Amino acid sequence: MNIIVTGGAGFIGSNFLNLLVPRHPEHHFINVDKLTYAANVANLNAIADRPNYALERVDIADRDAVRELFERTRPNLVIHFAAESHVDRSIHAPETFIQTNINGTFHLLEEFRALPKGQGQLFHHVSTDEVYGSLGPTGAFSEQSPYDPSSPYSASKAASDHLVRAYHRTYGLPIKLTNCSNNYGPYQFPEKMIPLMILNAAEGKPLPVYGRGENVRDWLYVDDHCEAIWAVIERGKVGATYNVGGKSERKNIDVVHAICTLVAAEKGVAVESLLELIRFVEDRPGHDLRYAIDPTKITGECGFSPKENFETGLKKTVRWYLEHESWVKSVRSGEYRAWIEKNYAART
Ligand code: NAD
Ligand code: TYD
Repeated sequence: MNIIVTGGAGFIGSNFLNLLVPRHPEHHFINVDKLTYAANVANLNAIADRPNYALERVDIADRDAVRELFERTRPNLVIHFAAESHVDRSIHAPETFIQTNINGTFHLLEEFRALPKGQGQLFHHVSTDEVYGSLGPTGAFSEQSPYDPSSPYSASKAASDHLVRAYHRTYGLPIKLTNCSNNYGPYQFPEKMIPLMILNAAEGKPLPVYGRGENVRDWLYVDDHCEAIWAVIERGKVGATYNVGGKSERKNIDVVHAICTLVAAEKGVAVESLLELIRFVEDRPGHDLRYAIDPTKITGECGFSPKENFETGLKKTVRWYLEHESWVKSVRSGEYRAWIEKNYAART
């Protein structure tokens, strides 16, 4: 098959390609990425020279470019990761979230629909549990939970999910969706909580916890998310949605404590010296209190369950960031410093 993977130079997309390209030499993977600040082609060094892999720099918000790409590459399968993905950035500057997440998805669906009959076998849309909004202290999101997004990011992902489902119902497009909980692991841009806290702790910088750190996220190691997507592609039902989660709910403050413990052990310093770096800062507006996933459907229908638990996954992740100084250096460009300045200056 010819497989277009959008956003394959970002965090989850690059982990996905690093796993699947060597495993499936019979498929040709085309990584379609605009290469925004969140992308890093060095994430793909291990597969860059493989004959079944190619990179195409394309902005999915550019309709003509997407049309030209589809006419030239004639994909059988589209796996759509590309998105603006950071909630805090969506609060500061929502426009690119609308352009990429909504219009970009629309362009891909339109060009997928225009493929010759039988050519496009599946459009797999990668989405988030944040479309369901916030849970109270109990319960979990199921595939029937109502959409109730709180941020421009989650609202734009919700819109894209609706479009994907509507193209199935209206035009009969073969689609599947996965809505996953928070991921962590190698190659995550250090604007997101886990890599930011690891690097700040390692460098003795403040650890900015929003509000009182009581918000709960359900954490899934990135390779498990990638395996879940492939399991749904292989075994999921066409037209269906599957929630993906790690059954690893943690309060943010407990995650920060766990990171301090692991970083202290790796660096041979006292954990107290890192815990002292915690700063409770101004909360995120519209901050969802809690996310949790009921994974019954994907477990039952696709036979997927995560391999990594939060303790083993976090340990691997901390080690990875401490051992990959040059990667960290390469992504901390001037743009990165400007973002940190903008987001945290107002909060402290
Ligand atoms: P990321 O921000 O690390 O990577 C996004 C990638 O998309 C980057 O390589 C970027 O260059 C590319 N991109 C952005 N705009 C583009 C455009 N206009 N045209 C082409 N490429 C563009 O994001 P991620 O964390 O890897 O998330 C990937 C997908 O998974 C997203 O759709 C996100 O909503 C979803 N998701 C993420 C998480 C998570 O915890 N990170 C959880 C559930 C779902
Ligand atoms: P994040 O990694 O941005 O993912 P998301 O907003 O998609 O869940 O944030 C995870 C949690 O950590 C979220 O509740 C916000 C919180 N957070 C902080 O407390 N401090 C930070 O500096 C960041 C970036 C996030």
